[in-house]
Amino acid sequence: MKSSRILGIGSYVPERVWTNNDLATIMDTSDEWIQQRTGIKQRHWVDFDSNTTTSDLGLKAAEQAIKSAGIDKSEIECILFATLSPDYEFPGTACFLQAKLGLPGVPAIDVRQQCTGFIYATSIADNFIKTGMYKKILVVGAETHSRGLQRNTEGRDVAVLFGDGAGAVVLGESDGKAQILSTHLHADGAYAKELWVQYPGIANGDRYQPDLESKEWFPKMNGKAVFMHAVKRMPEVLMKGLSHNGLKLEDIDLFVFHQANLRINEMVAKQLGIPEEKVHNTIQKFGNTTAATIPLGLHDAVQAGKLKPGMTVASAAFGSGFTWASMVIKW
Ligand code: ACO
Repeated sequence: MKSSRILGIGSYVPERVWTNNDLATIMDTSDEWIQQRTGIKQRHWVDFDSNTTTSDLGLKAAEQAIKSAGIDKSEIECILFATLSPDYEFPGTACFLQAKLGLPGVPAIDVRQQCTGFIYATSIADNFIKTGMYKKILVVGAETHSRGLQRNTEGRDVAVLFGDGAGAVVLGESDGKAQILSTHLHADGAYAKELWVQYPGIANGDRYQPDLESKEWFPKMNGKAVFMHAVKRMPEVLMKGLSHNGLKLEDIDLFVFHQANLRINEMVAKQLGIPEEKVHNTIQKFGNTTAATIPLGLHDAVQAGKLKPGMTVASAAFGSGFTWASMVIKW
């Protein structure tokens, strides 16, 4: 059977940096509170006076990924776009990106699996390539969280955590060396409301008579429940991926985990005995960019010279749904 590999990678974050101290000017919070609990020092947010959308961020990352793959964009046969902050409720953000890329006719698929969205999307792309359906696929993870956050003291528990950004890869057929070795996907909808946003949604009643005063337009999170489940599910699904490939933890050169909270990743690494230097965390500078954390992290590691051809890299993610997933790649 065919297998797939990453041909090219790109990423983008908006220019404007918000440090924790900057946030303290618009809400009752502090650098100390945020860093102690999450490890976050700063995040990038779009310019609120601009009309930058999630597909715009995705476009910048996609253009870089296409360039780094050394292909012409016309070779892209399918687009997968993972996001929880879509340009519009419908149609999907992949359609907007497809138009901006100028690729009419190319299928455009949205993946709405939040923090695990990029692994879900990569898994779908990998399987399209394995079956021979498409040869080159663009996979994007992008978020514009800032515009969907309650950026004041009332919403501070969630608002300080999230950043805007995008990452993208082009997947193509494996050359027998570099390869997506495995993806493992899971979900448990019984926990759907532990980390969610209620509006907009048909379950609330008539779409055109929304309760605009409702605070339920903003994301809500049971932080402790998320923490507890994440530190259980991430090691579990990571080890499932490794054992599927007959690999041991020592065989992995780099771990690029989802960036929900530095403390979650430290606890996962500690539980498994993974040395600190093998975990590439970016939450300190980007915050949690949800569907973008893994491609952003992979690209950041490449740029830092920490991820090189021939290395084996493993990712695990946990998030809203609840969903959790892992991916093992021969780079
Ligand atoms: N700044 C200052 N004080 C704050 C802030 C803030 N930004 N947010 C909450 N507080 C206050 C609360 O009001 C509360 O005050 P009180 O004791 O007077 O009532 C106090 O700080 C403690 O609040 P908790 O919510 O209990 O804080 P906790 O210690 O649980 O930390 C956190 C919150 C960091 C979110 C934690 O629950 C956690 O790590 N959860 C894991 C989930 C996570 O990180 N999710 C990220 C996104 S989801 C994902 O990607 C999977």
